[in-house]
Amino acid sequence: MKILLTGCAGFIGSHTLDRLLADGHHVIGVDNFDPFYDRALKAANIEQHLDSDRFDLIEGDLADPTTFNKINFQLGGSAPDAIIHLAAKAGVRPSIEDPVGYQRANVIATQNLLEFAKDEGIKQFVFASSSSVYGVNPNVPWSEKHDVSGPISPYASTKVSCELLGHVYSHLYGIRVLGLRFFTVYGPRQRPDLAINKFVRLIEAGEPIPVFGDGSTRRDYTFIEDIVTGILGSLHYQGSNYEVINLGNDQTVTLSEMIATIEEVVGKKAIIDRLPQQPGDVPQTWADVTKANKLFGYKPTITFKQGVEKFVQWRSEQLSF
Ligand SMILES: NC(=O)c1ccc[n+]([C@@H]2O[C@H](COP(=O)([O-])OP(=O)(O)OC[C@H]3O[C@@H](n4cnc5c(N)ncnc54)[C@H](O)[C@@H]3O)[C@@H](O)[C@H]2O)c1
Repeated sequence: MKILLTGCAGFIGSHTLDRLLADGHHVIGVDNFDPFYDRALKAANIEQHLDSDRFDLIEGDLADPTTFNKINFQLGGSAPDAIIHLAAKAGVRPSIEDPVGYQRANVIATQNLLEFAKDEGIKQFVFASSSSVYGVNPNVPWSEKHDVSGPISPYASTKVSCELLGHVYSHLYGIRVLGLRFFTVYGPRQRPDLAINKFVRLIEAGEPIPVFGDGSTRRDYTFIEDIVTGILGSLHYQGSNYEVINLGNDQTVTLSEMIATIEEVVGKKAIIDRLPQQPGDVPQTWADVTKANKLFGYKPTITFKQGVEKFVQWRSEQLSF
């Protein structure tokens, strides 16, 4: 298949790129190397594929309509079979500082891409939503049947908006739109702002880790390889025209348990800098993954401890270069 993959240089995007190329697909990747974190990290995520004749990289901002001229030029009149849209400004807390930037990068960019899918007659559109759409819903595990009209951060509201836009385009133009609600993804190349990456770095360096709240907040952590398997499952899904689908691990880990696991794997005690709970953070996330299992056989395989071990192993390999 020929696939347009957005956010291809990011954490989840670059792993998806690895898998698509390994499976023999042709990928047109788009990324604007957003300065949210170091460009060098994103460049390193994809550098092994730059010489591949089945990978074309387009640097461009999807919120800017001129980027689609570049995409069309690259395509040369042969439309992709599907779009996997992972580009976004990610992160809950920074969205409170820059709500307009998030609206532009997440909502306007998604609408531009849906318009492109409509114009090019592309019939499969998979995109990254987020567990944050569930807000502070106390009824866990969270099911796709639950109400998502109460997001509590600008980031979460952009993801709800993308889900609604997706419904419009599936209804009006018959595009199969699948919104994948990822639950805290971790593993090699994880974004440096995310807790596991940050905590491992600080604990290894013997520096204090910022811990918000009393450690009882819970997250459903999902290992990157399981997420990519879910993305690929949805890419080949040929059922109904519009679905939102949880991709999680179906298990929760408290913040204190997460720190204890890192301490055990790294072999060093953490120095805790206890701070107040942050606005926009939700107390718990927990995915019911029955639907993903039913639609395309999704079944997470990696336990939290195994995943942390794989992350720490990857980091030590990076440091040894
Ligand atoms: N990592 C998680 O735990 C998690 C959880 C839920 C949802 N998500 C979603 O998954 C997707 C991927 O997240 P990630 O963790 O890999 O983040 P990431 O920041 O590593 O990757 C996103 C990529 O998109 C690019 N990008 C941003 N704005 C763009 C624009 N306007 N045009 C073109 N490219 C743009 C960035 O440069 C980056 O390389 C995002 O949509 C995110 O919201 C991630």
